[in-house]
Amino acid sequence: MLGPFALIWSLLAGPVACAGAIASLDVYLTWQRDPTTTMTVCWQETAPGSGAVEWRPAGADQWSRAAASAPRPLLGTERIAAHAELTGLHPDTIYEFRCGDDDEIRRFRTLPATLDRPLTFVEGGDPQDGPAMEQMLRLAASRDPAFVVIGGDLTFDDGLSEYAGRVERFFRAVGRNLVTSEGRCIPVVVCVGNHDVNRDRQWVLDKDNLPQDTATRRALAPFFTASWPFPGHRGYGVLDVGNYLSLVVLDTNHLNAVDGPQLAWLRETLAARKSVAHLLPIYHVPAYPGVRDMNDELSKRIRETWSPLFEQAGVRLTFEHHEHAFKVTHPMRGGKKSANGTVYLGGGAMGIELRDPRDPAREPHLAKTAKAHHLHEVVLEPQRRTVRTLGVDGGEIHHLEQTVSEAS
Ligand SMILES: [Fe+2]
Repeated sequence: MLGPFALIWSLLAGPVACAGAIASLDVYLTWQRDPTTTMTVCWQETAPGSGAVEWRPAGADQWSRAAASAPRPLLGTERIAAHAELTGLHPDTIYEFRCGDDDEIRRFRTLPATLDRPLTFVEGGDPQDGPAMEQMLRLAASRDPAFVVIGGDLTFDDGLSEYAGRVERFFRAVGRNLVTSEGRCIPVVVCVGNHDVNRDRQWVLDKDNLPQDTATRRALAPFFTASWPFPGHRGYGVLDVGNYLSLVVLDTNHLNAVDGPQLAWLRETLAARKSVAHLLPIYHVPAYPGVRDMNDELSKRIRETWSPLFEQAGVRLTFEHHEHAFKVTHPMRGGKKSANGTVYLGGGAMGIELRDPRDPAREPHLAKTAKAHHLHEVVLEPQRRTVRTLGVDGGEIHHLEQTVSEAS
């Protein structure tokens, strides 16, 4: 039942898609491990806080219960962030769930264990409370994706309490818009970007001056670490889906150095997944810029340290962001165009105001650029993947098709 406070909020807010009966409750989904058998339900709300999530297979009578994590207060707000991980789920199955005292019953679907039919997901970056953010989230949902990836600079909060309103607007927009036409909430996988970290610490290149412990990472990225249990305060990680997809979520010098302990982890992680057909790194600052200079120190470092590992593992596609314009490179190997090289795709323009990209005719690594808000609709099949880059009106900006037999 709704208390009087929640009831007033409910009446003021009116009906919304996946927001519950309590208007101050914003619910979103992610994963911390196996997306075929788990789901992490996250929420942000004002006090008193939901203590648990109840869940059941769609149509079942009995609810199971998962306890919530310790709530984390959100800097500069009266809200808390909490989550509960549901485990022991069946692959490719619809479940119903509800948070705490909220009456709203929501739905999600676990990912399939095998790639028996095409699997679609949507990828983009840099919503940043920008003018196109909600429209792009609705466009993402309209593709009926199994999940959405957002590659950093989520809320443009800069780790500062004065920008907490941007955080609230982002999570409200996600809760309302990342819902399919059939009412299924769409899980979100994120990586960290520079604007998710305190403004004074966004461009530390010396790895010894980057945070060395959990408390410092939480202090530097208070909204990001409180809101996203994966990759959370660690800043990087991998999600394996069956044996057909691995999302390698990386940190481009925001909470972890590109060439610090993350580098050895990346080497081992990629080497262990050479046989995965769709081995896809996701990170914020580009190795191959489409707006900034190729000699940018951080981009150079990523090309020198990560790109050789991508090539050794047979990675054919990475997702890049941060630049607020679309770009796609030629397949690159050893810094040169190569038919069996790696394509570096995207520039992070899922909402934020746009920048002018470089002219591909003057940049040997660039195949195409566009000053356009965009996201990528990615369709995975056993032997190939198709990536359609869509503009804000849903029109196609770029089409990429890759066979994946070489990587298998
Ligand atoms: Fe950025």
